[in-house]
Amino acid sequence: MKTSHAAAAVFSLATGCLARRMELTPEALANDVRTEQLQSTLWNLEHIAHQHGGNRAFGRPGYKASVDFVLERASERFGDKFDTYVQEFNHTYEEFFNITLTGPDGEDVFTVSPRFNPPTPAGAGGITARLVNTPVDRKLGSMCWEDQWDGIDAAGKIVLVRRGGCDAIVKVLFAKKKGAIGFVMTHHNWDNEKPMSRFWLSSTNPDMMMPTAIVSRPVGNAWAARLDAGEELVVTLAVNGILERRPSWNVISQTKQGDPDKVIMLGAHLDSVPAGPGINDDGSGTAALLEIMESVERYDGFPHAIRFAWWGAEEVGLVGSLFYTRTLETKDVDKIKYYFNYDMIGSPYPMFEVMGRLEDSSGGLFGNGGRLIGNGGALSGIGVDLLANYLADAGKEVTHAVFDGRSDYAGFDALGIPCVGLFTGEDVHDPCYHEACDNINNIDLDALTINTKAAAYALGVLANSLDGVPKRANTTVNMQRRNKMVDQFQTWDAISEEAQWVRTCSHGGQKLMV
Ligand SMILES: *[C@@H]1O[C@H](CO)[C@@H](O)[C@H](O)[C@H]1NC(C)=O
Ligand SMILES: *[C@@H]1O[C@H](CO)[C@@H](O)[C@H](O)[C@H]1NC(C)=O
Ligand SMILES: *[C@@H]1O[C@H](CO)[C@@H](O)[C@H](O)[C@H]1NC(C)=O
Ligand SMILES: [Zn+2]
Repeated sequence: MKTSHAAAAVFSLATGCLARRMELTPEALANDVRTEQLQSTLWNLEHIAHQHGGNRAFGRPGYKASVDFVLERASERFGDKFDTYVQEFNHTYEEFFNITLTGPDGEDVFTVSPRFNPPTPAGAGGITARLVNTPVDRKLGSMCWEDQWDGIDAAGKIVLVRRGGCDAIVKVLFAKKKGAIGFVMTHHNWDNEKPMSRFWLSSTNPDMMMPTAIVSRPVGNAWAARLDAGEELVVTLAVNGILERRPSWNVISQTKQGDPDKVIMLGAHLDSVPAGPGINDDGSGTAALLEIMESVERYDGFPHAIRFAWWGAEEVGLVGSLFYTRTLETKDVDKIKYYFNYDMIGSPYPMFEVMGRLEDSSGGLFGNGGRLIGNGGALSGIGVDLLANYLADAGKEVTHAVFDGRSDYAGFDALGIPCVGLFTGEDVHDPCYHEACDNINNIDLDALTINTKAAAYALGVLANSLDGVPKRANTTVNMQRRNKMVDQFQTWDAISEEAQWVRTCSHGGQKLMV
């Protein structure tokens, strides 16, 4: 704190503004947080959703309007104190309507669509083509290897392939290479009309996929037998929906003050799910950051720069924050000394969970859980104590949890940057999680206020001092080896895909398995 006093005095003398502006302290930042302002931001976000089809989701107009809302504050109102930019990225937008499969005898066949299924041409009634069978290989996996496709005349046809042995994406890629125009996959352990679940095609390379239907074992086996007996079978597959790349945006805003080589960063995602306005998830974090930003704007004399990030496309796989972290240059990675993540911090029946990469009493490590992100990450250090102690002092019962890769800290953790997050819970804590009713009434204002104060306080400490902040860890995501960029991008995509699969803020429901 002493050094920051000195810095403040020097700055003030140099500008001749002694005593005009106050020094940034943890207490001052926390005291500035106002419930009415947080509520007002949430009301604005809800209004934006209502004006744009009920949501603020990736690829939809409500998201763009949310970006404009944040920009109005960050670059217009607070523009003399912050440098703000919008970072654009692209991601696959998916909207599924329906799938129909008409069998060789004109019958409607019960079928299931994978996610990220490319639509058949609109208005054309689907694609009609001959079906071609492919061999089953229980040992190596059916049609998982290129030479298994030798001699298969798939050009212009719809291929019938047995599931299993490898990712369906692999089979579809080979089929496409052979000139097939459609794909029917026989589910090897689905015998009735109630499939247990669905599977996915590529969310990152939709152009490399083709319209695909999944059929039950009895249906697929019967067709295979007829084809093997020399019959000619013609089927019609129609997939209706939208699958295309769409742009989205992160908003990044950094104080002009403070050493830009020592950055304390705070992030919250700005998108909602398509189902609703996303007021707790994550209007709460968005409002917290805006409120803290407005407070920071009043102060001088802090030695470390403060950077705010509002992430896009979190709900479809942490896409915005992963784009940001994976495109950072190593020298810029090293400048980020700490990352705070605020995602769902105003649940109506809140718990007060501080999540991080923690050390247990025996010195063992929690928080690597065998996940892809497991080898990244530094311990969370002082950030955990700052948040937990503030909440405990305010009379809240604090719980601790380890990172599970479910929110925007994942990319920072993978880069070895120490980070921490607050979370007030879903399920019983937030029955409107990912629902239309995640609206202005779905907030515990006391929880949101106290969490925002805790966040402001912790920021105030680190903006002045890095005591207790661990060094960045040496991670497996090696940013220096640019020639290994492809591998690295696969790692990042894997983090993103994993984030979509696990039960998460990013994506509700159990891990999907077929
Ligand atoms: C996003 O897609 C647009 C249009 O194809 C392209 O111009 C732009 O460069 C892409 N942006 C990124 C970050 O890849
Ligand atoms: C499938 O979706 C298309 C496009 O929205 C629509 O025109 C069509 O009626 C739908 N078909 C069925 C069977 O629901
Ligand atoms: C980081 O890890 C890599 C691979 O394990 C190793 O080669 C490198 O020396 C390490 N760097 C540092 C600074 O520890
Ligand atoms: Zn969220």
